[in-house]
Amino acid sequence: MIRWLLGRDTPALDGAIAFAPEEEADGARLRHPGRRREWLLGRVTAKTLILRHLRECGQPVGDPRRIAIRAAESGAPRVFLDGRELPVSLSISHSHGKALCAVCPRERGLLGVDLERIEPRSPAFAADYFSEHERFLAGAVPRPERDFALTLFWCVKEAVLKALGTGLRRDPRTVEVLDLPAGGVDPARALSVKLADGTVPAVCCGRMEGMACAIAVLPEK
Ligand SMILES: CC(C)(COP(=O)(O)OP(=O)(O)OC[C@H]1O[C@@H](n2cnc3c(N)ncnc32)[C@H](O)[C@@H]1OP(=O)(O)O)[C@@H](O)C(=O)NCCC(=O)NCCS
Repeated sequence: MIRWLLGRDTPALDGAIAFAPEEEADGARLRHPGRRREWLLGRVTAKTLILRHLRECGQPVGDPRRIAIRAAESGAPRVFLDGRELPVSLSISHSHGKALCAVCPRERGLLGVDLERIEPRSPAFAADYFSEHERFLAGAVPRPERDFALTLFWCVKEAVLKALGTGLRRDPRTVEVLDLPAGGVDPARALSVKLADGTVPAVCCGRMEGMACAIAVLPEK
């Protein structure tokens, strides 16, 4: 089962959850206040979700300091319990005071999530990152929905690239959205997506509070 959680930045965020010593050290290394805040929001949301996941899997952890989320060299988050890596896939995205996190057992696949504020996207941005087919799909809907469609397509690409563990080190054009569901995507819909090598990830997308979001799952190779 895939579990997800949307977190919001509030004054209660500070001290909302106890961090492991190595997490405290990671946070202290972040000098830029905005970056530190988004990291904090992502970590509080992710730890809350991991604790819920473990509880619902019959493995409750009382003290949140036993859980540590550490970044791999690639930047991808990994989850440790008492210093041992847990067999889960976790993904984190933060944008404009919100964070989206998702987690699943590793055997279910590799997860990636992305969350972006819906806003106008320039023709140059579309030309650089979207295929002719994706531009056709977005161009076929009226203006406000077009902004949503292009934002959503970008979310899908980032979510898939996070599931791959490369992030934007891999060309976003290698991930192509094949359709845009008729009637919009509220609250959540499956979306047809293909990678350049033929892999077909499972992708779910949606719109929440002025944000577009996507959750992608790839089979582990
Ligand atoms: C990872 C990346 C896709 C993040 O995109 P973004 O829209 O800026 O940020 P998001 O909030 O959606 O995601 C950030 C989270 O992605 C996760 N992440 C970072 N690198 C990742 C990777 N290689 N694979 C999977 N997840 C990754 C982290 O959890 C990060 O949050 P945290 O550092 O607070 O823990 C992007 O920054 C990237 O690819 N970076 C690597 C390449 C790079 O540095 N390029 C220069 C900028 S283009």
